[in-house]
Amino acid sequence: MIIAIDGTVASGKSTAARNIAGRLGFLHINTGLMYRAVAAFARRNGIPTADAHRVAACAKELRIDLARTSAGQRVYVDGTDMTDEATAPDIGPDVSNVADNEAVRAVLVREQRRMGLEAGDAVLEGRDIGSVVFPDAEVKFFVTADARERARRRLEDDRKRNPDITLDDVLEAIIARDERDRSRPVGALKRMPGAIDVDTTHNTPEQTLEQMLAAIGRMRMGRSS
Ligand code: DC
Repeated sequence: MIIAIDGTVASGKSTAARNIAGRLGFLHINTGLMYRAVAAFARRNGIPTADAHRVAACAKELRIDLARTSAGQRVYVDGTDMTDEATAPDIGPDVSNVADNEAVRAVLVREQRRMGLEAGDAVLEGRDIGSVVFPDAEVKFFVTADARERARRRLEDDRKRNPDITLDDVLEAIIARDERDRSRPVGALKRMPGAIDVDTTHNTPEQTLEQMLAAIGRMRMGRSS
């Protein structure tokens, strides 16, 4: 079974995807981390992410692996752990450039499909999972939360690495990222017909998990009847 989770930045979709995968024994594929890894690799190698041709050329040569560890999902590029660089608080604009790059998207989408099909049972999270990567996914979720609440959650993480960052800085970046994610010509974030809406604003991660597991259970029952 393929479970597609799309949603806005910092909406809690990664936590939900990780928890669902853990509970059901499915593979968890954090596709955002793959776009981030390409951005981190470009930065490390002095390739401007706005240079679409050079970034696409290097994305075609890279090997990107995701691994589950006790510290959460990690991403490796050609065997090197790039997770910290890929999640640096200031990487947002570079990741958006990479996500806008249609040639990079084609490479990563192909890889995501391969990983999902090989696993058979997988939870994929991102922006275009239900629309592009697995349009036939058995279950599709659309996860959102109030922008201020998302900024508050992201601030806790970002402060660990940049103590001077403010809530307003994070909120501004989140609003800009939402806009860019929704208006991308290819792979834009959109709610697919039939997707199950999940608003995590007032939820604990456990409440979100139970709500989503209940919906998956209903879909499975529907499939077998
Ligand atoms: O989920 P995230 O914030 O880690 O994603 C990082 C960026 O990658 C975000 O700006 C949107 C983009 N992205 C995308 O375009 N398509 C995906 N399937 C996943 C992420």
